[in-house]
Amino acid sequence: MFPDPREYPCVAAADLAACPCLPPPLSTTLRAVPHLVPPRSPQAIRRWLWAVLAVTIALMQVGAITRLTNSGLSITEWRPLLGTFPPLSQAEWLRVFELYKTTSQYKLANYGFSLESFQTIFWWEYIHRLLGRLIGLVVVVPYLFFLVTRRLPRWLALAGAGLIALGGMQGVVGWWMVQSGFANRIEVSHLRLSIHLALAFAVVAALVVIIKQIPRGAVGEASVTGARTQRLRQNKPTMPLGLAWLTLLLVCLQVVIGAWVAGTNAGQIYTDFPLFGGLVLPSEYLATARHLVFDPGTIQANHRLLAYVLVGLGVVLAWRYHMGLSFLVACLIQGIIGVITLLLAVPVFWGAFHQFGAIALFIVALSLVLQGHHAHRAAG
Ligand code: HEM
Repeated sequence: MFPDPREYPCVAAADLAACPCLPPPLSTTLRAVPHLVPPRSPQAIRRWLWAVLAVTIALMQVGAITRLTNSGLSITEWRPLLGTFPPLSQAEWLRVFELYKTTSQYKLANYGFSLESFQTIFWWEYIHRLLGRLIGLVVVVPYLFFLVTRRLPRWLALAGAGLIALGGMQGVVGWWMVQSGFANRIEVSHLRLSIHLALAFAVVAALVVIIKQIPRGAVGEASVTGARTQRLRQNKPTMPLGLAWLTLLLVCLQVVIGAWVAGTNAGQIYTDFPLFGGLVLPSEYLATARHLVFDPGTIQANHRLLAYVLVGLGVVLAWRYHMGLSFLVACLIQGIIGVITLLLAVPVFWGAFHQFGAIALFIVALSLVLQGHHAHRAAG
């Protein structure tokens, strides 16, 4: 449990920064967020947010599988409420199949598809959308409960409302992305795909940041964590904030370029490594400025080059700073998964695993920034 306000008057007064009565490691932890009043029932709220994070990551993974199995354009309607139910009769299956037959994807890529083949791709997209609705419930119902029972301080109530807005926006962007695949193309726009993926990473970031602002329940637990952090910091200095931000921004850029690789099927060409069809760079590399965003060979080359930059940066961070080694290890593992994905020409399992690795690396990079802010505030 969080310290009892009767025992620690500064908690009740929300004056955590100058808190002489809290035990030292806990006061150090709380001083990082002096403006944030801790919620009542912090453990329950943390568990709720962890559950939302888990469902978000599951949703992203199903999204990756949906794309990798080319299932994303199988549902042609946008029915936020009625779409909760899959077709329940043969007549309904035939109706949605007929709608799919009007798409360019059916005419140009899947002409002659049987109803059974259609049902296979339908289910992935259906599960993706169903999880999207489920996450709405997992966020909104507990949020309203905590709000009504006055367990959320103002900042957390606002943060929760922001999360709900972000989730709603993601649904709209998802539909906007799907629509781009209906008009004379067989796949969605890779630029819209990258916006959809970036927004999903923004939701992950928001959840991690909020969770980290909520003190862990027990005083003893916080003391152990505080002591451990202090012991680790004695070995190496905390990374400068600017460097931590630069690292995070480079990871974000890599995620966007990765989405372009995925969206242009750039992982299906140049499946040799480290060369590109025997050349150091693809022959068409940056032939025009447009190639930067639209040419699959150039996009894949940039994805590889940025991975080298990230690993190089990871080596420097690991050598100099606390937590740098975690970043380097995450980067290396992600790079290796990426190379395997490429050499095997993007099978579903490895493609989805590579997305999972990107989420893990992103959370590590985000933690560098949060730790930098923590140290910055503690020093100031
Ligand atoms: C080290 C940092 C890296 C990060 C953060 C990263 C991140 C990503 C992300 C976010 C995607 C899109 C995944 C999706 O939407 O499902 C992606 C796709 C991809 N990446 Fe990476 N990647 C990294 C390194 C590499 C490396 C070194 C290679 C190979 C040399 C590679 C090969 C690929 C391929 C082939 C795809 C397309 C997969 C697909 O079509 O689903 N990546 N990457």
